[in-house]
Amino acid sequence: MGTTLEQVRRDLPVLNGPLPGPRARAVMERDARTVSPSYTRSYPLVASKGEGAMVEDVDGNRFLDFNAGIAVVSTGHCHPEVVRAIQEQAGRLIHMSGTDFYYEALPALAEALSRIAPGTEARRVSFGNSGAEAVEGAIKLARWSTGREKIIAFLGSFHGRTMGALSLTARKAVQRAGFGPLVPGVIHAPYPYCYRCPYGQKPDTCATECVQHIEKTLLKTIVPAEETAAIVVEPVQGEGGYIVPPRKFFDELTRVCRENGILLVADEVQSGMGRTGRMWAADHFDLVPDIFTVAKGIASGLPLGATVARADLMTWPPGAHASTFGGNPVACEAALVTIRLLEQGLVDNAARMGARMRARMDTWPARFPIVGDVRGLGLMIGLELVRDRESREKAPELRDRVVQLAFERGMLILGAGDNTLRLCPPLIITRDQCDFALDTLEACLTQAGRPA
Ligand SMILES: Cc1ncc(COP(=O)(O)O)c(C=O)c1O
Repeated sequence: MGTTLEQVRRDLPVLNGPLPGPRARAVMERDARTVSPSYTRSYPLVASKGEGAMVEDVDGNRFLDFNAGIAVVSTGHCHPEVVRAIQEQAGRLIHMSGTDFYYEALPALAEALSRIAPGTEARRVSFGNSGAEAVEGAIKLARWSTGREKIIAFLGSFHGRTMGALSLTARKAVQRAGFGPLVPGVIHAPYPYCYRCPYGQKPDTCATECVQHIEKTLLKTIVPAEETAAIVVEPVQGEGGYIVPPRKFFDELTRVCRENGILLVADEVQSGMGRTGRMWAADHFDLVPDIFTVAKGIASGLPLGATVARADLMTWPPGAHASTFGGNPVACEAALVTIRLLEQGLVDNAARMGARMRARMDTWPARFPIVGDVRGLGLMIGLELVRDRESREKAPELRDRVVQLAFERGMLILGAGDNTLRLCPPLIITRDQCDFALDTLEACLTQAGRPA
């Protein structure tokens, strides 16, 4: 059966008039009066409905969502099977608090996460409600189980905004300014951002200086190995600009951790749940973390976070760590369906659609002078915009312009890093939607690249 005109209209953007429309304006005005001004809104999207990869605003404009609520709606907006599971569970039991009582969804989800976790180690799971909480759990468990205090994290990283997670975060000054003192004992090391190598190396000359710095400098000076509980790393740096390290970075980091009894914590909050075309970004590098964190895509939009650890590490006593809402039964049921859908084809679709997009995007640095670097894994794709290829000078205003232009053409994207466009559509994205996105981005890059 061919695609009907109606389907095409449903699955691709349709704009009714200038943006924002009147209803959107009214909501934005109320929001401006009452909602925390700390939220960053890149453009005036006032969402009303979502279906698959499409979002409809309050004025009936339909957008193609290449952001997925910041890498959250992994199975698409309102996947019918997820909605059904949520509705059925909400009709039976909405809350009980897994901290003090039992319900089946909790061990069921812990089993599922253990089964799909990288490596073959037995795992235990502690549940929270967000990425930041999952990171808090990881920090606490690392300290508790090693009896050590110090933690090494990476420059450019984003781990969340609660005080512990914020202490690891080293992305933008505004995120930390005015909130100190932060949790003591956290030290940051350079991240392997190969397009802008902090050590001026090229891929063939790289001697994993980023790890050497940890091993030969940090552990020998300010964070003695015997005081260091964990190294916390995003396998693909998310908010920092969708940066993919070379495999040897993880091999070396693992060696340094193992040799020094330091736990390796992978923050898979953004890169996990099939986003990279494998269940975990760690799987691309055969990285087996001692502890890893999951949130965002885990429950297709319901709030849920998980700290997944080697079972022999998670032996803390009753009362040591828990959360009233963490692992709420409705969110757990949504997660169980999400995992099933990912395993039944969406992870593979992410790999296929990611490859399809990259085949065309990889030609862009040669075609568009403002495209410096194209990188990513699966459907976690970054496009770094520069003033020109030779100088590689960052061009944040061009990036912001492309984000705006895409919105005006009915496509939702956001930035990451100082000057990178991030593409993280729902994993149900179709070939036609990918091709539409590529056409749109090419038009926007051409328009933004023109001298004003
Ligand atoms: C890698 C990573 N860790 C943690 C977080 C924090 O997650 P949340 O906003 O759910 O607290 C984020 C959010 O962007 C993230 O990308």
